[in-house]
Amino acid sequence: MLKGLVSLYLSLIFLSSGTIVLAAESGYVARSNLMQNIRSEFSVLARMAQEKIQFDESLAESTRLTLLNLAASAPTIFEDNELPINSEALPAIWENWEDFISKSEDFEFALEGIETSTLIDLRSSLGNVGATCGSCHQKYRMK
Ligand code: HEC
Repeated sequence: MLKGLVSLYLSLIFLSSGTIVLAAESGYVARSNLMQNIRSEFSVLARMAQEKIQFDESLAESTRLTLLNLAASAPTIFEDNELPINSEALPAIWENWEDFISKSEDFEFALEGIETSTLIDLRSSLGNVGATCGSCHQKYRMK
């Protein structure tokens, strides 16, 4: 709710200034949106692996590619170290930038390793991805 209000507030500022180009998200809002997109795409694969939705090779593969694109945008999106009170990002990100980038690359590497040809393959390759989310969150996201 609070997050929704904050982004509404930001878009109102940008609209009233008349510079629509600036309406591109930045800082915390962009980070939060990126992570929410990552979560929702990842949950497609997780639900498929758990047979909560039907296995579909082409959906699995396109979801994997979407996740790779999202992951590739993380370093640029996280460059902005704006830290409003509702952000869960820790200042350690910008103090250990190289390490943060390497965790982001580990995430991409795990996504590259997802096998989408059969349900069994998907299941056995997905755990590695979850581990890379956890490893970055443990160090760089507030609990
Ligand atoms: C390279 C580091 C890194 C990786 C990898 C990563 N995250 Fe995050 N995630 C963060 C940080 C940092 C935040 C806090 C961002 C903020 O609040 O400014 C975050 C926040 C989130 C949030 C909260 C978003 C919000 O504001 O509502 C979700 C959900 C999330 N991550 C899911 C995931 C999932 C699922 C994965 C793996 C599939 C993942 N993340 C991988 C660093 C990472």
